[in-house]
Amino acid sequence: MLSKKATCNSHGQDSSYFLGWQEYEKNPYHDSLNPTGIIQMGLAENQLSFDLLESWIAENPDAAGFRRNGESIFRELALFQDYHGLPFFKKALAEFMSDIRGNKVSFDPSKIVLTAGATSANETLMFCLAEAGDAILIPTPYYPGFDRDLKWRTGAEIVPIQCTSSNGFKITPSALEEAYAAAQKRNLTVKAVLVTNPSNPLGTTMTGQELNLLVTFVISKSIHLVSDEIYSGTIFTSPRFTSIIEILNNRTDCYDSDVWNRVHIVYSLSKDLGLPGFRVGAIYSNNGAVIEAATKMSSFGLISSQTQYFLSEILSDKKFTSWYMAENQRRLKKRHDSLVRGLKEAGIRCLGSNAGLFCWVDMRHLLRKNTFEAEIELWKKIVYDVRLNISAGSSCHCAEPGWFRVCFANMTEETLDLSMRRMKEFVASAAAATLRGSSGRWRNLRRLSFADKSWRKKFTTNWVFRLLSSRHCYAADQ
Ligand SMILES: Cc1ncc(COP(=O)(O)O)c(C=O)c1O
Repeated sequence: MLSKKATCNSHGQDSSYFLGWQEYEKNPYHDSLNPTGIIQMGLAENQLSFDLLESWIAENPDAAGFRRNGESIFRELALFQDYHGLPFFKKALAEFMSDIRGNKVSFDPSKIVLTAGATSANETLMFCLAEAGDAILIPTPYYPGFDRDLKWRTGAEIVPIQCTSSNGFKITPSALEEAYAAAQKRNLTVKAVLVTNPSNPLGTTMTGQELNLLVTFVISKSIHLVSDEIYSGTIFTSPRFTSIIEILNNRTDCYDSDVWNRVHIVYSLSKDLGLPGFRVGAIYSNNGAVIEAATKMSSFGLISSQTQYFLSEILSDKKFTSWYMAENQRRLKKRHDSLVRGLKEAGIRCLGSNAGLFCWVDMRHLLRKNTFEAEIELWKKIVYDVRLNISAGSSCHCAEPGWFRVCFANMTEETLDLSMRRMKEFVASAAAATLRGSSGRWRNLRRLSFADKSWRKKFTTNWVFRLLSSRHCYAADQ
């Protein structure tokens, strides 16, 4: 017999987001061993700059070899178990976080709580701030893992702040007030607003206007604001990233305000350094009570001292980290541009974005109907027939059917090219089916389209032309 908490379905495991991963596991693409397998485009992993880290390790063998200045520190690391973390690691992490914010804000290492990734940071923070009967407001679309991280063990509810494509999914004052009222209607006590900046899944940084709006809102309602800044080092083009702390610093009405005690940052090295397997995350807060409670909680998800030591060596090498960040961002931009270009050739456009490891892709024109059922139908075709695991917008709680998150940094350039070729074939065949009035599945049509290239070209051209001339809403056209 398991506990109610363990068996309740608020974990979100049955979302199409996780189902897609399961389908990928059953038939994973491999260039030589399984070239017709499913390509994983539903995983926000950054594999573009491993070679830089590997070169650093080769040049600094002490770091991974439990040695300091050539002397073994194995015993020291093996015995260390203070849940406050290694002081020199916290210092190195605090400075790294300032560096990636252009040193416009500084972080005090004593206000950092170390956690096993941002997953643990978000869940720990929620444990401190909310419980059953409480609500956290989150702008949609949002990272599907939040259902698990924020709701499952705390019993708190997520209430969506509905954002739409009409303004590029920006947060508006009315959307905030409506979410607050919706929570109250459900007899929930609103405890916090949680945002991801840059956004997963949008791949966009929040504007100063949005951030100021949020600060004003949490001041007026006397609630907390959590800013998950896990993608803060992935900004590959303008506008630059603005941390919520920078906004607080710049507002005169925040100088002596207790709002400082209610704004918390979540960070992790999973995305910026591409190290999700190392499980390194952090909570940053000015609130002493939150730091104290979260530090006690962190016993449940500590980072091993071996990992802390290794990473403190890398992060303290500032020459390396600044070069790494610049090079990684250059590679992210190149990859982002390839995806946007490939999709455009298939007549598909993306929301303009400047950060992250994914694009937010508009496939509304490919839906049979403007419904979430039609979105899942299309998603299934793309997973099973086209063999690309992308994430349906509904799994990110998007309010409009037809949007998908497509990741670009967890594969080689060749695999990305192949995925785009598959997508083009699919759109061409779907267009042909529409023009022929056929309701047959794409799989049946594919044989025809593959066999006759000139036929395919003709219909692709018609379809793409039709798409480009149709009126869709984009924040930017890239
Ligand atoms: C917004 C956001 N927060 C948290 C996480 C979890 O990150 P971690 O691997 O550090 O637990 C992710 C991972 O995709 C994410 O996108």
